[in-house]
Amino acid sequence: MVSRRTALTTAGIGIAGAAGAVAVGSAFVGGTPTPASASPAAPVAFFGEHQAGIVTPAQDRLHFAAFDVITKDRAKLVEMLREWTAAAARMTAGRDAGLLGAVGGQAEAPPDDTGEALGLPASGLTLTIGFGRSLFRDAAGLDRFGIADRIPAALEPLPHFPGDALRPEISDGDLCVQACANDPQVAVHAIRNLARIGFGTVSIRYSQLGFGRTSSTSRDQATARNLMGFKDGTRNLKLEDTDLLREQLWARAEDGAAWMAGGSYLVTRRIRMTVETWDRTSLAEQEAIFGRDKGEGAPLGQAKEFDEPDFNARGDDGEPVIAKQAHIRLAHPDFNNGAHLLRRGYNFVDGSDGLGRLDAGLFFIAYQRDPRKQFVPVQRSLARADVLNEYIRHVSSGLWACPPGVTGDGDHWGRTLF
Ligand code: HEM
Repeated sequence: MVSRRTALTTAGIGIAGAAGAVAVGSAFVGGTPTPASASPAAPVAFFGEHQAGIVTPAQDRLHFAAFDVITKDRAKLVEMLREWTAAAARMTAGRDAGLLGAVGGQAEAPPDDTGEALGLPASGLTLTIGFGRSLFRDAAGLDRFGIADRIPAALEPLPHFPGDALRPEISDGDLCVQACANDPQVAVHAIRNLARIGFGTVSIRYSQLGFGRTSSTSRDQATARNLMGFKDGTRNLKLEDTDLLREQLWARAEDGAAWMAGGSYLVTRRIRMTVETWDRTSLAEQEAIFGRDKGEGAPLGQAKEFDEPDFNARGDDGEPVIAKQAHIRLAHPDFNNGAHLLRRGYNFVDGSDGLGRLDAGLFFIAYQRDPRKQFVPVQRSLARADVLNEYIRHVSSGLWACPPGVTGDGDHWGRTLF
């Protein structure tokens, strides 16, 4: 039996109530395994040492939003983060705030919930918050909220990479929330309600819808395909890789920013694909570009998807079976100082571009312990040599410090920072 959203007629329940509702301490603990076998409608626990939505088996849908903070008032911002936390705990547990206004339950007031998720189950909703560098120090160098001395070194701005065609209006931001769910309406509803609650404190800078996860984050999940038709996520960091997660995913106090211990750094890139050109490329060329076959997803020269790639193998012509410029070679930890990423991206198609082409691609999402040692070197090597670059363009970029999880009563998003 899945939990059904209940239309409460009172204002939203607080964190304490929600904590009870999501069975803290059960197998469903925020940020740690929700079995991939769990029903797609079931809730994922919000509370835990780590935020949910990172190692949680990737859900099918995404609504990602970046926000600008429009107040100078630190107390107002912290109050909103408290309200967001209570709303996030409630929504991820599959509960609505109810349709009647908070002020005395009056029908004259705007509803406490926009209503489009009434009757829908929790649908595996996770909400993951991140803080952008501009929250700490704005473009003019101003310490708006008295936290400039807490900027983690790992939040160093990403360098310009060759081929970047970044659009500032869909890049960066003060805050971000990644909403993932197995029902698009549930993910959209969650972001919309956070924006509604934040009215006057934050405004949406940009948002991105995604469908069809392009990564698996658990060995229980089948590998999905990206819009180039290839299995994506085969050699991803997965929740079963506990030693690697400890070493490569979760920030630690000794990394410099104690408030980030148990958190992780997120890089987002909206990568446009020229699918029309890709679709006119031969199968052999497509496979050579990735270094994997398209049907099975096996490394070239091997038979099965999870076989290890042999980067030393040479064909009858004496050439490497996996080309020097193949995506999986350039991105492989062996050639990037052991760097791994936990990728969690989604496909997108945002209509067409007016030039007879789909505005389609991959909204790339990757979590890691330190982008300076992980995303940056891997992307440098890809930007320099990947033949895939002929078919893709990075048009938006974001770097976010995602704090540790909310542990229960009295705790809220950003507490360790503020
Ligand atoms: C692997 C697609 C961009 C990092 C792969 C694979 C595919 C793929 C099909 C092989 C299957 C797998 O192991 O997941 C794409 C597409 C991209 C893209 C279509 C752009 C539209 C990126 C970017 C990065 C990245 C920007 C990081 C900077 C990786 C890594 C692997 C990988 C680390 C695993 C390498 C290994 O250990 O074998 N990608 N990718 N990819 N990709 Fe990408």
